Amino acid sequence: MVSFWTPAGIAQAEEETRRAQPPPPPPPPQKKNALLGPRPHEPQVEKYRPHTLADVVGNRDAVDRLRVVQAEGNMPNLILAGPPGTGKTTSVLCLARAMLGPAAKDAVLELNASDDRGIDVVRTKIKMFAQKKATLPPGRHKLVILDEADAMTTGAQQALRRTMELHSSTTRFALACNASSKVIEPIQSRCAVLRYGRLSDADVLGRLQTVAAAEGVATLPCGLTALVFSADGDMRQALNNLQSTAAGFGLVSEENVLRVCDQPHPATVQAAVERALEGDLDAAHALLTSLLDKGYSSGDVVGTLFRLLKALPAGGRVPEFAQLEAIREVAETQARLSDGVGTRLQLDGLLARLVAVGTQAGIAKREEVKAEAPAAAAAPVKAV
Ligand SMILES: Nc1ncnc2c1ncn2[C@@H]1O[C@H](COP(=O)(O)OP(=O)(O)O)[C@@H](O)[C@H]1O
Ligand SMILES: [Mg+2]
Repeated sequence: MVSFWTPAGIAQAEEETRRAQPPPPPPPPQKKNALLGPRPHEPQVEKYRPHTLADVVGNRDAVDRLRVVQAEGNMPNLILAGPPGTGKTTSVLCLARAMLGPAAKDAVLELNASDDRGIDVVRTKIKMFAQKKATLPPGRHKLVILDEADAMTTGAQQALRRTMELHSSTTRFALACNASSKVIEPIQSRCAVLRYGRLSDADVLGRLQTVAAAEGVATLPCGLTALVFSADGDMRQALNNLQSTAAGFGLVSEENVLRVCDQPHPATVQAAVERALEGDLDAAHALLTSLLDKGYSSGDVVGTLFRLLKALPAGGRVPEFAQLEAIREVAETQARLSDGVGTRLQLDGLLARLVAVGTQAGIAKREEVKAEAPAAAAAPVKAV
């Protein structure tokens, strides 16, 4: 060992001190002139947010009703209810833009969950806006957009109902929310409810292709399919994942998408379901355990399992009643997970019940016949 007091020891100590010190901070990035250099990227969800109702894809019924409102101009109070990323906020903004034109700047009050929307805000800000004068195209009204209205307190909603009625001649309200049941009934009865559903896979795929082409992103069909699968009808998530995959890996392939989305590989989950339905509980258990060992939660696995079962092709190997039974079993497991019981035993229980479903449907038996054939063929080879 080198003594500290020798020149070599001192050199070594200095070297160690130098290594222990944190590296000098990198020089601050040179500020680029926005006019000269490339402009910083906007998130693609915002860049490609539709500007007119015609560009909003899916949910034909709801969007068509909004088109009628846009044409007539006399907008009723509206509740837009549905899952996230389906175009509720976008539709209201498109409607406001189309109905009010340049006046929209002064005649629209937009409050979302990040704004304070307690009872005081309803009493002061919204009331003042409703009383304010604005120059509008003839026959049009000012518009209050309350995004994520189900996050408003009951008190604030109660305060809103009177304001809604008092100022109905000048101001209309559009409330966007995930669950219309969380909006109090008196407000529901004052509004026309438009329901938004999850977007279809074809709608999400079409939009992804448009955005990918416009951005010049290299995509593989399997990558787009994986994006559509993991988004499950949520366009915001699909577009965000497209951008993250393109930024992180360049190529949008299935492997890269699954790395970004951090979801259990659908192929592994599918194999586990198939093994279970065929009656091979051990193999199914091993596949699911491999996923849980990678750190995925039981909720992740069950979510993927449900989407796979839902997407099983009609007329395939699994008859429809078995598919429905399997979904019922998954739903029960999901309910238990949401009660807080997310142990591996629950997943094993689910697999065992899937084995029972497969046996009832006769899937397991057919597989046994198939499995015997190669074994019989292999026997003479062994003998030779
Ligand atoms: N139906 C749709 N058509 C086209 N783009 C959509 C649609 N729904 C959502 N998007 C995209 O997702 C983003 C978020 O949509 P948004 O309307 O805010 O969803 P939410 O239903 O949660 O209010 C938008 O900026 C847009 O890029
Ligand atoms: Mg929204």
